[in-house]
Amino acid sequence: MRAHHIDRPADLDTVRESYDRVADNYAHMVLTTGLGDIRRHPWLKASIDAFADSVGELGPVLDVGCGPGTVTGYLAERGLDVRGVDLSPRMIENARRLHPRCRFDVCSATELDLADASLGGVLGWWSLFNLPRQVLPQVLAHFARALRPGGYLITATHVGDEDAPRTEAYGGVPVRWTTHKWRPEPYVRLIEQAGLHPVAELRLPADEQVGPGLVVMARRPG
Ligand SMILES: C[S@@+](CC[C@H](N)C(=O)[O-])C[C@H]1O[C@@H](n2cnc3c(N)ncnc32)[C@H](O)[C@@H]1O
Repeated sequence: MRAHHIDRPADLDTVRESYDRVADNYAHMVLTTGLGDIRRHPWLKASIDAFADSVGELGPVLDVGCGPGTVTGYLAERGLDVRGVDLSPRMIENARRLHPRCRFDVCSATELDLADASLGGVLGWWSLFNLPRQVLPQVLAHFARALRPGGYLITATHVGDEDAPRTEAYGGVPVRWTTHKWRPEPYVRLIEQAGLHPVAELRLPADEQVGPGLVVMARRPG
């Protein structure tokens, strides 16, 4: 039983089914176009490299919302003790197929059973924006408690004001989810309120393919 209560998002099952439907196209997109592959985006790669260098041997790393495991696999190649979890069973099937040496499990960010001070690092890499606005702080607080003192969170998310309904994605597949966009200042404030100290922020302007984004890395004091 988790000591830390997190509300269950009302749309969790709908979001899971939607990502199950797009999972094969998403994995194919990463492999064929490089979109979503940090190796093809120097600033995203630099952020993940800085995270990996900082975590070093502090402890295990959990990639929450790992999708097909692109970043999980990259961190494993870099020698980190990393595991991926995702809400969507189909995403996890793809992750296991593409990265057979890594460990992956199906789990929602809202249902993780994490011992206090058990992780060296945690990622919410383009995977927390479906969480309702009142649920995200609860998840961040759970992550913060799960980090060892000196451990790191890295998160990337979409920037804006809207709660944008999405009805199709990744090749016209019908989906139903909401992208809760955040302005950088309130997003960073949530991370601070969770008990973490921001160490770096990277703002990414919109390009031809995706809207503006934000990467934040933060550290548990101690
Ligand atoms: C845009 S994909 C990003 C995947 C991966 N992090 C990457 O960068 O390729 C968003 C992922 O978040 C997952 N996701 C959405 N809500 C989640 C939740 N509540 N718990 C865990 N994963 C979630 C989705 O299933 C999907 O795989």
